[in-house]
Amino acid sequence: MSVDLVRRSVLPVLPIINERFSPRAFSERVVTDEELELVLEAARWAPSSMNEQPWRFLVTRRGGTGHAELLGSLNTSNQVWADKAPVLILNLVQRTLSRNGQENFHARHDLGLATAQLTAQATELGMGLHILGGFHADAARAAFGIPEVYDLVSVIALGFPGDPGTLPEHLKERELHHSPRRPLTELVHYGRFNG
Ligand SMILES: Cc1cc2nc3c(=O)[nH]c(=O)nc-3n(C[C@H](O)[C@H](O)[C@H](O)COP(=O)(O)O)c2cc1C
Repeated sequence: MSVDLVRRSVLPVLPIINERFSPRAFSERVVTDEELELVLEAARWAPSSMNEQPWRFLVTRRGGTGHAELLGSLNTSNQVWADKAPVLILNLVQRTLSRNGQENFHARHDLGLATAQLTAQATELGMGLHILGGFHADAARAAFGIPEVYDLVSVIALGFPGDPGTLPEHLKERELHHSPRRPLTELVHYGRFNG
């Protein structure tokens, strides 16, 4: 079964934007060290408030150190498919500014930018990734001994998209019908805010 590659926007947005989706089916294809480094490097070059670069990435490979622990911290509903992803990445932010110890109000914003760049690079390489907020941060913090100054924000399941036919029936449906979007008229307000 192949995924319909005609994606969502009818406007000529970049192909990596239009073709990206959050897969749950992952193929057996291995992510090479070079591919992994490239997507992390793309994240490194994201802009950030005061160039703090508050993001940190804890990377595990299927069968490798820490992977079972990170997978085990996911909600069961995510574990059932994320266990096929060859790479899991725990996304953290340093909550305080290095320069003065004050709260970095933009830390999560900047992590979002970094993961967006990671996503763009991964998509360009033909990879698929699925960001997950459904995980137990306390369990992951304990498993990896992560200090309190870091917030554990999300997990990325990364690999190459696989055959949706391998998924359980209810997830197969979701894989083939991509998520809708709000219209621009709801999202964008010109000159005044219309609530
Ligand atoms: C911060 C964040 C948390 C998410 N958490 C989950 C999750 O726990 N489980 C899941 O299946 N999808 C999760 N998603 C994926 C979203 O549901 C998905 O991006 C959205 O439905 C749009 O679909 P698309 O990415 O295929 O365009 C998350 C996405 C983001 C950005």
